Amino acid sequence: MVGKWRATISPMKAAHVTQYGSPEVVTIQEVAQPQPKDDEILVRIHSSAVTAADVRIRAARFPKGFGLLARLAFGYSKPRNAVLGNTFSGVVEAAGANVTEFQVGDEVCGMTGTQMGTHAEYLVISQNKAVVKKPKAVSHQDAAGVLFGGTTALYFLRDKGQIGPGQQVLIHGASGAVGSNAVQLAKHLGAKVTAATRPGKTDFVARLGADRVVDYTKETAGGVYDLVLDTSGRLSVSQGKALLKPQGKLVLIAGGLPELLRSLIDKQLIGDGAPERKENIAYLLSLVESKALKVVNEEVYPFENVVKAHQHVDEGKSGNVLLQF
Ligand SMILES: NC(=O)c1ccc[n+]([C@@H]2O[C@H](COP(=O)([O-])OP(=O)(O)OC[C@H]3O[C@@H](n4cnc5c(N)ncnc54)[C@H](OP(=O)(O)O)[C@@H]3O)[C@@H](O)[C@H]2O)c1
Repeated sequence: MVGKWRATISPMKAAHVTQYGSPEVVTIQEVAQPQPKDDEILVRIHSSAVTAADVRIRAARFPKGFGLLARLAFGYSKPRNAVLGNTFSGVVEAAGANVTEFQVGDEVCGMTGTQMGTHAEYLVISQNKAVVKKPKAVSHQDAAGVLFGGTTALYFLRDKGQIGPGQQVLIHGASGAVGSNAVQLAKHLGAKVTAATRPGKTDFVARLGADRVVDYTKETAGGVYDLVLDTSGRLSVSQGKALLKPQGKLVLIAGGLPELLRSLIDKQLIGDGAPERKENIAYLLSLVESKALKVVNEEVYPFENVVKAHQHVDEGKSGNVLLQF
């Protein structure tokens, strides 16, 4: 046993979503702190991101064809897990009897996937889940900021897309959480990167290091890419395929059920869900620590302003929007 569980249970604040709807359905409530089981740690959260996934679930705004399936998964008439949030960075405050990987006082960060629950002052998570020690040189905000977009971009570009030196890659919708990481990671993996974004965002995206930046309302180049990653949900399968070389791959991360089903039989199409993996999180943190990956945190809101953070994400963002506890 490397830590001790405290006998008293204190209250904590958590952002609750008790019905689907606009940002105003998010309310901060006082609830009991969770208690770690034998293989779990209790984390005092310092930073968490409000992601595209959070606002999708809050608003029940699911990709085409997923409405019923998503409601079955997340709750039919209201979210089953009332506390949203899937990334966190914080400090271990207590550890269960069988925890060997972490100690009280460790700075840790991680992801909770569909379990969510990080828009709260405290979280319990098994040491075996997607949680790792955070390098001291990486701030809580950068750790919480990089995880959602970074793990998604890494999985689709490296693990699924297997991009490498000299390949031509198009990131379509380059300014968001996934896009801003994808541009930098594709460059880091040696690819020649074209970043497509809306007209007002071209300067911002150029600073991420793309070889070429295009306004996607004007881009017409076809048949040139080894991989196209669309984060915007606005590229159809036929539009995306027209941009590819004959053996190229099209990744539609915001695609609907028709695209997902088609990806099962169409080898050029990748339509999948990015998993949360300890090793990918640790790899991303090492890139942030060595300054090979820049984390773009557009705005940091005090936890009390969680409604404003949801409004911001609804209205469109560059990079990440964070909560600070
Ligand atoms: N399949 C998976 O495993 C997976 C994982 C993570 C995310 N996703 C999905 O992928 C999509 C992108 O995620 P994300 O975290 O990158 O989301 P995000 O940060 O909200 O960015 C999404 C898009 O917002 C656009 N955008 C920027 N300003 C905007 C505005 N004012 N109005 C409308 N759009 C604006 C960006 O395109 P521009 O560059 O053109 O501005 C970007 O493509 C989401 O639909 C998310 O649900 C899927």
